[in-house]
Amino acid sequence: MSEKLALFGGAQALTRVEELTHVSRWPSFAEEEKAAVLEAMDADHLYAVTAQFEEEFAAYHGVRFAVAQNNGTSTLHAAYFAAGVGPGDEVITSAYTWHLQVGPILALHALPVFCDVDPRSAALDPDDVRRKISRRTKAIVVLHPYGGVAPMEDIIAIGREYGLPVIEDCSHAHGATYRGRKVGTLGDIGCFSLQASKLMTAIEGGVLITDNEEFYERVCVLAHYERIPRLRSQQYRRFYEPDKVQAPACFGFKYRMNPLAAALARVQLRHLDEWNAVRRQNMKYLDRRLMEVGRGVFEPPYEAPQTERLWLNYICQYHADKAGVPRERFIAALRAEGLPVSGGRTGYLPVYWNPLYEERCGIWGAGYPFDAPYVTSPVTYQRGMCPQAERFEQRTVGLPVLHRPVSQELREEIVRAVEKVIDNLAEL
Ligand SMILES: Cc1ncc(COP(=O)(O)O)c(C=O)c1O
Repeated sequence: MSEKLALFGGAQALTRVEELTHVSRWPSFAEEEKAAVLEAMDADHLYAVTAQFEEEFAAYHGVRFAVAQNNGTSTLHAAYFAAGVGPGDEVITSAYTWHLQVGPILALHALPVFCDVDPRSAALDPDDVRRKISRRTKAIVVLHPYGGVAPMEDIIAIGREYGLPVIEDCSHAHGATYRGRKVGTLGDIGCFSLQASKLMTAIEGGVLITDNEEFYERVCVLAHYERIPRLRSQQYRRFYEPDKVQAPACFGFKYRMNPLAAALARVQLRHLDEWNAVRRQNMKYLDRRLMEVGRGVFEPPYEAPQTERLWLNYICQYHADKAGVPRERFIAALRAEGLPVSGGRTGYLPVYWNPLYEERCGIWGAGYPFDAPYVTSPVTYQRGMCPQAERFEQRTVGLPVLHRPVSQELREEIVRAVEKVIDNLAEL
């Protein structure tokens, strides 16, 4: 045992509180973003900025198509539709994700099939994906959780084997790479939320990328009626032919991005690599040092081999069974040392832990979609079905992400705060 814990009246390990508050604040906009938004308001062509953002986002990823939308949820809806998901189909998804990755599946009267995750990373477990594929499966959607990159090679191999499109939900990982290739370009469609908490943001917004023209055209026909006259395929162009005496129509939605959001997103994209490099330098340092001081009871976030992950959140794992101290007590001790640790619901709960699934609520009327006539083999949801996803949240402890350049002293104070609590576990 060394110094007295702050929880018991000792001095706080963290003294550089102001610096920590400053570097962990996200987002925080500069004059450049504000000027870009004002400029977009004064533009002669109010929508031109959206097309510019799309071009730049596509170029950044080296893909043919980028479609800017109003949020990440709508990009997922459009992606599932593009992949051909329809009533009674099944979509393989992670049990450990944000519910809005899954909701749009229901919006297409299709059924999510939840798969378990790797206990180190909370990324989709390819073995469970393989087990859960059925003849009704239409697509696989994979999350890069908290910026950690999912095992794409295995998942894409499964997709190829069964002829299933793979959709990447990159909402946590803008700019992360797998074997040097950017996430979103590995599967068939990449979806990104640009909501306020994300690594690049438009405050609200989303963007979808693909190299597949058929998928691009289906996205447009679902949600961007104004693009329909320019599509290559006559089967879609026929819904909006300006030179014919007919009303225009799309398949149901208008998911266009607000151009002011596009103006903001353009600036954010310009800085993304530079900001990611700063985060990486900070967080890899913490990874290394926390691994040293964690003594197997506290582990920094997992980085899979051949990936360069990012950190939407810095979700560590605390093993209460090895430490002999409940997580809440450990968190209270860290907080007393001055670390703004997130506790309580630090991570996600399995999506199916909701009455919507457990009670098979009739969304579109009694029995729809779960027991509708177009469902040929029922999908069931019960607690216990994805044990790793159910356990992951119980081990999570969230430390702040350091988004800006920081002093070495602050980084070491963070490490010291954790080390001090671990040195004193017996006192807790
Ligand atoms: C993994 C994931 N998917 C989808 C979404 C939905 O994005 P949006 O909030 O932009 O609609 C989010 C948003 O937090 C998310 O974290």
